[in-house]
Amino acid sequence: MSLTSTVHREARPAVVAGTCPGRLVRPIRAAVRRGLGWAKTADLVADALRANLNPDPDPAAILPAPLRRGDPSGYQSHLLYAEPDGTFSVSAMVWLPGQQTPVHDHVAWCVTAVLQGREHEEIFALDRGGQALRRIARNVNPRGSVSAFAPPGDIHRVRNTGSTVAISMHVYGADISRLGNSIRREYALPVRA
Ligand SMILES: [Fe+2]
Repeated sequence: MSLTSTVHREARPAVVAGTCPGRLVRPIRAAVRRGLGWAKTADLVADALRANLNPDPDPAAILPAPLRRGDPSGYQSHLLYAEPDGTFSVSAMVWLPGQQTPVHDHVAWCVTAVLQGREHEEIFALDRGGQALRRIARNVNPRGSVSAFAPPGDIHRVRNTGSTVAISMHVYGADISRLGNSIRREYALPVRA
C-alpha cells in the first residue's frame, strides 16, 4: 500500500498522506450525522467548509510540500482523513496545468473546495439512449470556491486550465480509504455539441 494513490480505473485502498484540520472535520461530522438525504447533506457540508475555510484556505495546512508539487504522470489524490464509521472521507487533489479527470460520475455526494489555482468543470448528461454525452454546463471554479453535488446528474470532467498547480479539497459521502476513489463509472462516449 502506498502513501498516495493516483486516480485510475483500478482503485486501491488509500492511507492518510496529509491532514484535515479538526476545525473542518468537526462541522463536517455534525452535518453528516444529521442523517439527511445526499443532496441536503452535501449542501450542509458545503456550508461548513465555506464557514471554516476562511480566512485563508492554505494548502500547506493539509499537504506536505512534496505532495503539493503535482506529478507529471497525472493528477493526484491524497487521502487526508477517513471518518472511523465510514460515513465520510476527505482527500486533496493536486493537478498540474492541463491535467484532467476522465468523464465520470460518483458513488456518493461530494463537496469540493478550491484551495489554490482554478479548476474548470464540464457537466454532462447522457444522450441518444446512453450512447452519447451532451455538455450541459461549464463552470470555472477559482480559489476559494466551494461546490456541492449529489448523484444522479453528477457526470462531469474536471481540468486545471490555469498556469499553476491547482489544489482542491474533496469531501465524499463514502470511505475513500477503502474504495480508493469516488468514481462510480467512467464514460468513454462521444460528446455532442
Ligand atoms: Fe468527480
